[in-house]
Amino acid sequence: MNTELKLHSLTALFNTPDEIIHAAEKISSEGFTKYDVHTPYPVHGMDKAMKLKSSKLGYITLIFGLSGAAFALLLMYWTMSVDYPMIIGGKPFFSLPAFIPVTFELTVLLATLSTIIGMLTFFFKFPDNNNPLIDSDYMKAVSSDKYGICIYANDPKFEKDKILALFESLHPAKTSEVYFPEKTRYPSLEPKFLVMLLVVAILTSGVTYITLNKLLYIVPFDWMLKQARVNAQSKSDYFPDQFGMRKPVEGSIARGFMPYEYKDQLQQPEKPLTNPLLPTKKVLELGKSKFLTFCSPCHGNYAEGDSRLNGQFPNPPTLHSNKVREWKDGNIYHVITNGQNIMPSYASQISREERWAIIKYIRVLQRAKNASDSDIILSKKESALNGTK
Ligand code: HEC
Repeated sequence: MNTELKLHSLTALFNTPDEIIHAAEKISSEGFTKYDVHTPYPVHGMDKAMKLKSSKLGYITLIFGLSGAAFALLLMYWTMSVDYPMIIGGKPFFSLPAFIPVTFELTVLLATLSTIIGMLTFFFKFPDNNNPLIDSDYMKAVSSDKYGICIYANDPKFEKDKILALFESLHPAKTSEVYFPEKTRYPSLEPKFLVMLLVVAILTSGVTYITLNKLLYIVPFDWMLKQARVNAQSKSDYFPDQFGMRKPVEGSIARGFMPYEYKDQLQQPEKPLTNPLLPTKKVLELGKSKFLTFCSPCHGNYAEGDSRLNGQFPNPPTLHSNKVREWKDGNIYHVITNGQNIMPSYASQISREERWAIIKYIRVLQRAKNASDSDIILSKKESALNGTK
């Protein structure tokens, strides 16, 4: 840059905190106002030595904090008592305790934001963030082990030679002059920086937009959703009557739904169907579980007719009667499928295979409750073989 250099400040470095306190006292008593002290750590008594008044930043905080509180209270007063009065929990329209959280939040929000923005603009002179002292040897020294004082060239009492003489009288370790290019450019307004800000803003907002509006709604596989098909209850122009839902062709039978040949026949069939299942463990376990679910509420856990329904439904007869014991499996199947008098049909709840399994289980119950002598001898023999009584 071919700009002229201008004097920014005169600086002096000292080795001890005592010296810098002394220097600050001296310079403030000489009447300088635009000067600063830089130390590696806060030095006690410096405010007094420099005759510093307390910062005015607090006023900004106070004013904005109070306006935040006032704004919150006024807004809630207006919405809750004037514009849309509502009784909530029997409380008065203007209910201060309920308004405290919002008031507190707005107070803190405005106070902190105004403090930071005020500090940056009024005190740090944003966008000027390029103090010529920053890259100087002086700043390197005071951020390590030296104590420095600098008097700015814009001080009304600034006279270079006088100040240098004053510094010498204080026996500094070193003095220096800090210059800066006349034409200052604010790094925070550099086109490169602004373009980078713009790129970051576009990137973050773009990624946020895509994530919230697109990414979250992506369906992993949607070609089943998007195929040509007729929705239930909807119209179809394919058929002359425009009914989308069609009845099956007359006489067609869905897989696994072979109709019962004696359906709705009150009399038991002369030649009932035979049970296609064998009393294997698996079949008996299936039968037991289905019996306990569907039959036991009325017939009792052991088919003795001891209903659990407390008289809310008439008790059925026991299934241990001679009649039912002598029935063919197909006769019981007929009752489960068609129902009998007040017992309803269970054809829609219980599959055909499950019905046959239930019947095998009923046979087990019947044999257990009506054991013959040979059953008892058999079980005695078995327990003797197993070594038990
Ligand atoms: C809602 C109660 C109820 C349920 C559940 C019920 N039954 Fe019945 N069941 C009855 C009643 C009541 C009768 C007597 C009907 C009559 O008056 O003929 C009966 C009769 C019967 C009979 C004929 C008994 C006879 O002596 O005529 C059989 C067999 C039978 N049920 C089997 C079953 C099976 C197997 C189930 C389970 C799938 C079942 N029931 C579920 C109430 C029920």
